[in-house]
Formats: sequence, C-alpha cells, structure tokens
Amino acid sequence: MCENVEKKKVLSCIQPSGMLTLGNYLGALKNWVNMQDEFDSTFAVADLHAITVRQEPAKLRSQIYSTYAILLALGLDPEKSTMFIQSHVPEHAQLSWLLSCNTQFGEMSRMTQFKDKSAKHADNVNVGLFSYPVLMAADILLYKPDFVPVGADQKQHLEIARDIAIRFNNHYGDVFTVPEAYIPKTGARVMSLQDPDKKMSKSDENQNAWVAILDDKDTIIRKFKRAVTDSEGGIYVSDEKKGVSNLITIYSAVTGKTVSEVEREFEGKGYGEFKLAVGEAVADELAPIKENYNRIITDKAELERLFREGGDRAERVARKTYFKAMKKVGFVL
Ligand code: TRP
Repeated sequence: MCENVEKKKVLSCIQPSGMLTLGNYLGALKNWVNMQDEFDSTFAVADLHAITVRQEPAKLRSQIYSTYAILLALGLDPEKSTMFIQSHVPEHAQLSWLLSCNTQFGEMSRMTQFKDKSAKHADNVNVGLFSYPVLMAADILLYKPDFVPVGADQKQHLEIARDIAIRFNNHYGDVFTVPEAYIPKTGARVMSLQDPDKKMSKSDENQNAWVAILDDKDTIIRKFKRAVTDSEGGIYVSDEKKGVSNLITIYSAVTGKTVSEVEREFEGKGYGEFKLAVGEAVADELAPIKENYNRIITDKAELERLFREGGDRAERVARKTYFKAMKKVGFVL
C-alpha cells in the first residue's frame, strides 16, 4: 500500500548564513533526520531569507552549496524527503506577494526579531527584513504541512503564518492548511559556552562560545575545556548553574542519555573530566558528519543534480497551492 497517504507532513527551512553550529544541529537538524521516516518531509535552504541582511555574493553562493551539503551529510535522504533551495521555486516569492497584501503593517511591527535585527543592522533596515515573516509564511503554506519544527525564536513567525492562513481561508475559501508548531521530544536549546545566558550563535565574536558542525576534534575539545562553569563544583542541572546545565543538556542530547543518567554518571567527578567527556562525545558525533561533508562538497555535479531534482519536486507541490490561491483571489489564469 502507499504508505505516504498515512504520513503527516512536516516542513522546515534553514538559512544558509555562515557556519552551522552545534546549536543548529542539536536544536533542529538532528530532529529533521529523526523525522524523515515518520513524516512526509520537506526541507529547504532558505536563501531568499539570507539577503535581508547584506551578503557578499560569492560567499552567499558558497554557503548555499555548503548548507545543502551539510543537510546531506547529516543523513537527510533526498529519496525520502524533498530537499531543495528556496529560490529555485519561484512560487515562494510569488505567494509572498499575495500574502503581503493580506497582512497588516501593525501585526508585522510587533515581531520581536525585526526589532532586534533592525537594531543590530541599523544601517540597513530594509523592507525585506520587515516583511520576512510573510515570506516565511509562504514557505510554509505552499506545502500544506501539518507540523513545522521551529525553535523558540521562530515561534512568533509561525503564529503569524497561522494567522495569515486562517484569515486567507476565511476571506477567500479554503486554500491553506493551518500548521502546528512541532516541539520535538529531544530538542535541545544550546547556550553559548562562554555566556550560558545567551543562545549559542555563530555571530558571537568570541570563537570559544560556539562549536561549528564542521569543527575538527581538537578544536571541539579545546572549546569544551574552556567552557564557562562555576566555582561551586557538582554536576547537576540548576538555575544557579547555567554553564554546567548547558553542558549536561548537550551531553544528554548527543548521547541519548537522560539528564538524571548524566547526573549520576558524573556524580562526585570534577569539571575537568566532565568537560572533556562532553567535548569527546560531541566530537565523536560530529566526526562522521564532517567526513561525509568533505566527500559530498567535492562532487558539485552530484550536489547540483540533487538540489535541482529536489527543486522540481517541490515546485510541483508549490505550484498547485499557488494557482489555487491566485484563482481564489480573482486572477485570470
Ligand atoms: N526564518 C527561519 C530562521 O531564520 C528560517 C525559515 C525560513 C523557516 N522559512 C521557514 C523555518 C519556514 C521554518 C519554516 O531560522
């Protein structure tokens, strides 16, 4: 029997901006890999989103390739999941216009990420940065997913996508599925290794604050050895011990052990030993990904074949939804 009929749909996208981090991996990407068997999945490299902040063309181009290659290296399988590059499917930008005309200025103005990013890039507060959640809504709604796995920072954008879908359906008739946020069972919120009050981010000036998926073993271990803890001792999760708690979260996410199993494993042990163990576990997990990546990135022709094929497959789905929306709005097709 055709098992796809039974499967719920998921969709998620990742921006091709710079190095992907251990935070991206444990917070999102590792779950994508776990989801691809259970769900009918669609995953995209959101390159159109990347230009809401200034990008150097050659660098953007190479980051699009490398992000797609990382997705493959992680074990996402283009036979199982639709994997493509957003800009290859023009319906994203096209639907985004229809949705823009059905989204209020006021509701966009409330987006906290816009406020943060416009403060950070005060010299380039462009209209795209402002309307970015509408493009994200188009990414989602074109594929009618049941679930969208998103981190905490994207929850507000998903809410808007839902609002836009509901409003459009009410006004013009049923076109879009209203998606739910997918909160994975094992999603980890990974904090900076240097300041555990902040999220791990590749834009952190302190290189020791974050680990890249493609860092080598020595670098990973060095960064974990330098991770900030506290002067109390004791390896357990607590609000007063954010650094240690973050390391426990990471170790637990990588090894699959529960938090209490990790606490028991390191009971009475010192921070030095603990940090080394976390570093080694992370390095061991990332090593095969890096190895796959190094192989995949050298075969550009194969990479291109895969993302073109993925793009064609995605567009077949996207086009149907887009035309349906156009027709409902009153355009002549
Ligand atoms: N805006 C998301 C981010 O910056 C990436 C993204 C773009 C996305 N389109 C999406 C995520 C659709 C989920 C669904 O992380």
